[in-house]
Amino acid sequence: MSQTFTKAMARNIFYGGSLFFILLFLSLSFDTQSELPKHDNSANLTAKVAQGKKLWEENDCIGCHTLLGEGAYFAPELGNVYKRLGSKEAIEAFISSRPREGIPGRRSMPQFGFTAEELDAISEFLKYASEIDTAGWPPNIQG
Ligand code: HEC
Repeated sequence: MSQTFTKAMARNIFYGGSLFFILLFLSLSFDTQSELPKHDNSANLTAKVAQGKKLWEENDCIGCHTLLGEGAYFAPELGNVYKRLGSKEAIEAFISSRPREGIPGRRSMPQFGFTAEELDAISEFLKYASEIDTAGWPPNIQG
């Protein structure tokens, strides 16, 4: 058997490799398209959630917090805060009782002066965020 790497061999590797990866790409695209509808929770996307999202943006919560991993690392992740604190009421009580200063080594969150309606919208938005199917991320409740 010859040791030389012929043009025909190079061509076969090129076509074979291309075909393999095109098929892999198509099958993964097909899989994504069939999985997507199962992860869709847009039915829960109410006007209240949208209002909460707007308040989230206007008040730059993401300047300190992460939401599903996106944002700043100054304060806790909030994608799962609804599960962590357990209810909308607990979230609202937390936000409206800030700041808690004077606890050594603990960072504090400012007071935003939200109305009851605004607090309801924000906690509704955070509840919505906790219901997004993230395939188990973050891996622990503190995350
Ligand atoms: C200046 C930084 C900063 C901003 C801006 C900020 N937070 Fe916070 N937030 C914190 C810190 C620090 C904590 C943790 C405080 C503690 O545990 O005592 C916190 C905690 C929280 C918690 C409780 C988290 C938990 O796991 O117990 C919630 C809910 C929350 N913030 C919501 C918000 C929302 C909603 C906004 C926007 C309206 C916001 N935060 C803006 C700094 C901030």
